[in-house]
Amino acid sequence: MRYPSPSPGLLARLAARLGRAGFSSDPADLAPWLTDWRRRLTGAAAALVSPADAEEAAFVVAAAAAEGVAIVPQGGNSSMVAGATPAGIGEPGEACALLVSMRRMRQIRSVSAADNAVVAEAGVVLADLHDAAAAAGRRFPLSLAAKGNATVGGLVSTNAGGTQVLRFGPMRSLVLGLEAVLPDGSMLRGLAPLRKDNRGYDLKQLLIGGEGTLGLVTAATLRLVPAIGERAVAWIGLRSAEQALTLLRLLEDRLGESVESFELVPAEGLALVLRHIPGTRAPLADSWEWNLLVEAVSPRGAEAIAGRLGPVLGEAIERGLIGDATIAASESQADSLWTLRESLSEAEARDGMAAKHDIAVPVADMPGFMARAAAAVAERFPGARPIAFGHLGDGNVHFNVRAPAGGDGSDGGRAWFAATATEVSRFVHGLVTEAGGSMSAEHGIGRLKRADFLQLVDPARRAAMLAIKHALDPAGIMNPGALLPLADRRARP
Ligand code: MLT
Ligand code: ZN
Repeated sequence: MRYPSPSPGLLARLAARLGRAGFSSDPADLAPWLTDWRRRLTGAAAALVSPADAEEAAFVVAAAAAEGVAIVPQGGNSSMVAGATPAGIGEPGEACALLVSMRRMRQIRSVSAADNAVVAEAGVVLADLHDAAAAAGRRFPLSLAAKGNATVGGLVSTNAGGTQVLRFGPMRSLVLGLEAVLPDGSMLRGLAPLRKDNRGYDLKQLLIGGEGTLGLVTAATLRLVPAIGERAVAWIGLRSAEQALTLLRLLEDRLGESVESFELVPAEGLALVLRHIPGTRAPLADSWEWNLLVEAVSPRGAEAIAGRLGPVLGEAIERGLIGDATIAASESQADSLWTLRESLSEAEARDGMAAKHDIAVPVADMPGFMARAAAAVAERFPGARPIAFGHLGDGNVHFNVRAPAGGDGSDGGRAWFAATATEVSRFVHGLVTEAGGSMSAEHGIGRLKRADFLQLVDPARRAAMLAIKHALDPAGIMNPGALLPLADRRARP
């Protein structure tokens, strides 16, 4: 047996300490949280454990560690890679893990405009974090489509990115401090909003992007930035992804750091959204091979940003970089443009099955990579339909491969997906690795990408990661099966 089930005594201790609000082994309470967001995996757990504060979280981990019981942390259950689903642990059919939900830990402990920092517990939902920062006259500058579900602990643990990474970076560059329970139950207390700290290894950076395999994040101190006075959101049509990057550098030259989003939507992506998302309409008169959503912001009291963006886009049209552009005339128009971008994934899913990828290469290489990879996929998997969209300004796109069109259409590509998606993903991940890029830019590895990651990762990197894991979690109890192989519980670390 690899992972033991919690003993009746352990379950009783957890139930006694956490109470009815924090402990349940009722299958009906567990069921909604056992299947991942993309509905690819369903797991099993002996109990749903929901600590109310850091001390309870430490109690849970220490109690589980004493018996070598597996813990799977979960926030909003919005992982794109099944990173928070207790699947594949223990023997088939066995419900041995504890699913540790952080959703009750949803306090904003403090917001300091003076420190430009907020201390938020792991279960705080991103949209609520945005509101708390705004109420203090500041801004938390990271956003993504799942902002209504994704929680601070998950965002930290996956080093989440999203649609506004261009200027302030992903979570890794926004976390000033962390509070976490290490796998032995000890607390790492490091929430001070220090801008400089040179005491050796930066342990918080191991937990950021560690996918819960090195500890349970209970709270984070996050960087805030000045609130936006005004934003200008433009939708741009153009024929070439290379020229999109020329436009990005032109915008930066003219507008400095104001450009915060630079998102790519291909013609077929926009068509999917218009087909499947009610209330959407095309922003430009013509259809363009590529579309860009650009957001530029100015701080409070600064000159109107739309008035500065317009002439640069005019110049880009004159220079032949872009074909057409429109700037939202109101906040509601800006929101409508964002809906076109943010609902692309949902529209794609409604249309049928797709093998989904989240890749990065150096920004300047991305247009060439997308073209080469699309051609290679088309040759290797006839009929499959590659579609690339997303964060072009960060050198990160979602290079998805949709099931072939046609057939009787009744299965939405399910048969193709079941037979081919694993091979397609291995192929795409191989291409990006050969190109010196990353097969996971912002979603993490989780359980869905683990096999490809372990096959393609550089041996030195793999060995170093395993050494760190064994050093901090020798029994392998933290989120087994995410990111790294399941621990062989009979082997000595
Ligand atoms: C996005 O950028 O829309 C998401 O990260 C990708 C996705 O949902 O597949
Ligand atoms: Zn994305």
